[in-house]
Amino acid sequence: TQAPVNVTVTGAAGQIGYALLFRIASGQLLGQDTPVRLRLLEIPQAVKAAEGTALELEDCAFPLLSGIDIFDDAKKAFDGVNVGLLVGARPRSKGMERGDLLEANGGIFKPQGEAINAGAADDVKVLVVGNPANTNALIAQAHAPDVPKERFTAMTRLDHNRAAAQLAAKLGVGVADIRKLTIWGNHSATQYPDIFHAEVGGKNAAEAVGDQKWLEDEFIPRVAKRGAEIIEARGASSAASAANAAIDHVYDWVNGTAEGDWVSMGIPSDGSYGVPEGIISSFPVTTKNGKYEIVEGLEINEFSRGKIDASVQELTDERDTVKQLGLI
Ligand code: NAI
Repeated sequence: TQAPVNVTVTGAAGQIGYALLFRIASGQLLGQDTPVRLRLLEIPQAVKAAEGTALELEDCAFPLLSGIDIFDDAKKAFDGVNVGLLVGARPRSKGMERGDLLEANGGIFKPQGEAINAGAADDVKVLVVGNPANTNALIAQAHAPDVPKERFTAMTRLDHNRAAAQLAAKLGVGVADIRKLTIWGNHSATQYPDIFHAEVGGKNAAEAVGDQKWLEDEFIPRVAKRGAEIIEARGASSAASAANAAIDHVYDWVNGTAEGDWVSMGIPSDGSYGVPEGIISSFPVTTKNGKYEIVEGLEINEFSRGKIDASVQELTDERDTVKQLGLI
């Protein structure tokens, strides 16, 4: 049998962590033939809670779970990491400006990037979930110069899945009938869920909808503001759906996308589609043999161009801010 894969999860005692760890340990992250060893990172005050979760993981008797270690030190937690799920982040508190938020998160993602640089396995793959995810990924990447840049990704899969669910509901089909949706840009309210290349049962989804007003006034804002809708209803932010999206993101990265479909991932831009090289922006990607590739050659209409540019502008502003703060 295969040697266990080291999966490091930060923010392990948080609500996403609680929804995520059991699914990783059950084999849903990497596949049913891959044993995993969990390495949990928390801040000292939350280590005890993480230990409690570890007791429950033990009680599940998952055949694929070959060990759990808990750390409050990033260097140790990322030692030997094959898959890093960076979930823990500093939330925005009342009155906090965007610059303050980026600075506070720099204090988390800089040392974690350094720890990944120092200890990660050669095949390391990193997914940043903690917000602002795209720019946090950029910070971690900047401090891991020995790791290939493309290994740092940010999560827009929850947005992708939300868009698929909304579109399927509108068209009265199952989500499995929806293909080739794209989230462009930042994981924020400026993100652009694009249905112009999407297909439903083999036909163009935008044509099947045939309702630009719905697209502009309902679909796009609902997907982009779904996080707030969940908070309003649940009294807490999305957790199980975020964990599910993290599972999907890594599973597809490792195991490949289906023929005739693609997924959305926040990845370092190579300049495709006029997105400035280097920023971590969401693109349509296919994956194969543990590598992803941007889907090239899509025609971008004027409406989409404006939406993509606006979100990319926000990302370049965030990058400029963290540069000014000396975080990258
Ligand atoms: P939470 O507050 O329940 O848990 C966060 C955990 O991270 C806490 O246990 C905290 O102690 C820990 N933590 C803080 N600093 C840390 C550090 N330096 N090292 C290790 N652990 C640390 O938050 P929740 O709901 O689990 O969300 C986590 C993050 O995911 C948030 O930033 C949230 O905004 C983001 N998120 C991202 C989504 C996406 O689509 N990209 C979707 C939903 C949430």
